[in-house]
Amino acid sequence: MKFFLDTANVEEVKRIADLGLADGVTTNPTIIAKEGKNFKEVILEICNIVKGPVSAEVTSDKAEDMIKEAMELAVWAPNIVVKIPMTEQGIKAVNILSKKGIKTNVTLIFSVTQGLIAAKAGATFVSPFLGRLDDIGGDSLKVVRDLRKVFDVYGFKTEIISASIRSLKHVEEAALAGSHIATIPGNLFDKLWSHPLTDKGLVQFKKDWDAYLNTER
Ligand code: E4P
Repeated sequence: MKFFLDTANVEEVKRIADLGLADGVTTNPTIIAKEGKNFKEVILEICNIVKGPVSAEVTSDKAEDMIKEAMELAVWAPNIVVKIPMTEQGIKAVNILSKKGIKTNVTLIFSVTQGLIAAKAGATFVSPFLGRLDDIGGDSLKVVRDLRKVFDVYGFKTEIISASIRSLKHVEEAALAGSHIATIPGNLFDKLWSHPLTDKGLVQFKKDWDAYLNTER
């Protein structure tokens, strides 16, 4: 499973990219606003650091306006993916953009039918929101698992990005459910490699090694 970073924090992107773990980046209007910087500048900085897909979201409601925005975004960098909301107008826009060869990520997906419709429209990626669906008592992992099955059965090339990830369990279960990608917030990334028993084991190894070095042989 590929790891995308769910952030517009350039320092965070650099740090995780240096570990070789950032296969791509996703942003949304909330994530961009949090950084308080110029939208284009932030996206361009990120596109320079990460060679994989970088999602930048449109903010218009009408298909024609989304298409206009998307055409502008798409020329910012070769790895830009235009994020389009899962609405009737969004699907209309994805249908046209995919024919123009513009890569899209259909966002705010909460059901298999939404994902299937986005794939039929030619979406490059679909983003089911795990955390937000679980918050209202939904079964987000079932959506990911079933969507993967549908894509495989019908031969869709669309990739699933498990988004709105809140925990390690989400990451592990997304991998087991066959999600192609998990987009993970920066603060959760550290937990991917941390374990208290790893730290405890390391302390013991160091202690034993120091004692060994101090022993006369
Ligand atoms: C990424 O594509 C999504 O916009 C993001 O994961 C949403 O996360 P949230 O539900 O924590 O806001």
